[in-house]
Amino acid sequence: MEESQAIANPHQVFKPSVEFANNANLDQAKYEELKLKANEDYLEFWGDLAREKISWNKEFTQILNEENAPFYKWFEDGLLNVSYNCLDRHLTKNGNKTAIIFVADDGKETIISYQELYKKVCQFANGLKSLEVKSGDRVVIYLPHSIEAIVAMQACARIGAIHSVVFAGFSAKSLAERILDAKAEIVITADGSIRGGKISYLKAVVDEALMRLDKNNPVRTVIVERRIDIECDWKHGQDMWWEHLVKDQVNLCPPSIISSEHPLFILYTSGSTGTPKGVQHSSAGYLLGTILTMEWVFDIKSNDIFWCTADVGWITGHSYVCYGPLAVGATQIIFEGTPMYPDASRFWQIIEKYKATIFYTAPTAIRALIKAGADLPNQFDLSTLRLLGSVGEPIGPETWLWFYEVVGKKRCPIVDTWWQTETGCNMLAPIPGVTALKPGSCTFPLPGIMAEIIDDNGNVIADTNSSITNHSHGYLVIKKPFPSQIRTIWNAKERFIKSYFPEEIAQGKYYVAGDSASKDVDGCFWILGRIDDVLNVSGHRLGTMEIESALVSHPKVAEAAVVGKPHPIKGEAVSAFVVCKSSSVPTGDNAKLLINELQEWVSNEIGAIAKPDEIYFTESLPKTRSGKIMRRLLRSIVRGEEIIGDISTLENPAILEQLKNNH
Ligand code: WT7
Repeated sequence: MEESQAIANPHQVFKPSVEFANNANLDQAKYEELKLKANEDYLEFWGDLAREKISWNKEFTQILNEENAPFYKWFEDGLLNVSYNCLDRHLTKNGNKTAIIFVADDGKETIISYQELYKKVCQFANGLKSLEVKSGDRVVIYLPHSIEAIVAMQACARIGAIHSVVFAGFSAKSLAERILDAKAEIVITADGSIRGGKISYLKAVVDEALMRLDKNNPVRTVIVERRIDIECDWKHGQDMWWEHLVKDQVNLCPPSIISSEHPLFILYTSGSTGTPKGVQHSSAGYLLGTILTMEWVFDIKSNDIFWCTADVGWITGHSYVCYGPLAVGATQIIFEGTPMYPDASRFWQIIEKYKATIFYTAPTAIRALIKAGADLPNQFDLSTLRLLGSVGEPIGPETWLWFYEVVGKKRCPIVDTWWQTETGCNMLAPIPGVTALKPGSCTFPLPGIMAEIIDDNGNVIADTNSSITNHSHGYLVIKKPFPSQIRTIWNAKERFIKSYFPEEIAQGKYYVAGDSASKDVDGCFWILGRIDDVLNVSGHRLGTMEIESALVSHPKVAEAAVVGKPHPIKGEAVSAFVVCKSSSVPTGDNAKLLINELQEWVSNEIGAIAKPDEIYFTESLPKTRSGKIMRRLLRSIVRGEEIIGDISTLENPAILEQLKNNH
């Protein structure tokens, strides 16, 4: 297990202001009541919330079906439509309310009401129907962060098609893998996009992906949004412009009635081994999780201007852009660009101009912004903000304090939300009107989330130590099933069990998150980082094995090992050790050239986010006699740390000295 990274002053505590507490959706009394109910009658706790928050076509009779655990089913015989819950149900009262304020990379804004969004979704859903897309069919969405991406996702939900959004920064190869695994018959993309002033040729990437798939290509239609009006290759009979598809469609499309457990989407994420996992979410349970956390954690009110900066290509963009905010009828900002373009004041300008009240972003963005101009926020009017949020990686006390003081002006609570692609919504997070905040801690599990820290045998790790730096840590687990959790890995039931309910940890009884964590005397949780071979680079999850296979597929590479190295902005940087096929280790200019070549190679194989920051050439890798790479040793080397622990199983101990010297 990794060593503690969270260092904080455990005595620093920030209590909610009386004003915030008095106006919060959840006050102390309601919060206690929820916790009590969850402890006393777990199923009714969820049942009541599901009945109250979701508009059902038919209410469920059974709350949880555990017969086939860990393939849990929630509200199984209930019928609903997620898109109805996000759109139709707001129309009578709030049809004219702004749903989305879209800010393009170049600053152009588009404002769209619930009524208008509803029409667009209906029209596009009818377009999909005209292509004979049916309930349960998979649709891959490869679009920039945009209103159209939301329309496409909601339209799928409307007709029961299962969307799988692939982040538009992924390579043709990554896209192809996902299309194939999901057996998607439809791909929705754009001619291109402009982000941070740079063009991405999205349609060309789709073309390449389909070419790679060749005979295995399951795609029959590619829908192309004309976004930046560039020329693209066209395959007649396959490609179709979005505008043509919707031109003759009526803007009314009755929502299909869908069962609670029908998969709403598949979202691929990296694991420690093999190809990315298709995390499959349900309809009702997932929806419930996003609604509750919008209310409890983000304290959403009808007049809020909510802004989550995450791209829809990631789970945060699914839950807190596409589904959560719409399900609660909120007004939100969607920003296509990057925090640094044209300069580092972009976020602050947008908050000022659109009077954002809730701002949810990632520590990596905050750290980059601090570096680019720690004083910049002071030049803008950020007084509309009332709540800040952080997600994706440990925020660290220093960054937390800057966010609190300079952005929130010591007025706004920060909700540090711990969760995962697999959990669908926030799991551990402060309740802003109730919880005393500690910079760097995601504080407590939400009501109904039975999180705990355990050792291999399932014993709870006691919170006896008052010093946070010195805490005993263990596996972060969730002991009871919860509605928004992953249902399975698409096409890989065994892998699902192995990944999340492994026998080795507490006999597979609990959901194992893959993070290590500790708890302080007050019961606050501190997330320390992954326990598996998964990296967190700028809040994005990357499997070391994926990057290694990409490197090894290069003709000059014989072997590769990838580890994470702490990085001041990205959180973790990708460090790679490479053994070349040629007998000599490249040096000087040869090494430089090959490093560039390999960086480009990984970008093309996976996507720019996976590009190694550092590449070291070596004669061999530290391995056990059975041939397993000892990444732990490489991690110590890149960190410049003393190598501790057992190295007696190492087959070639001499390599350590060489690696240390070359590094
Ligand atoms: C992993 C999940 C959840 C949306 C974005 C990432 C890390 C996430 C926090 C946090 C410390 C965090 C964990 C987790 N993580 N939020 N608030 N504090 N670490 O989703 O790609 O599925 O990654 O991100 O390591 O396991 P993801």
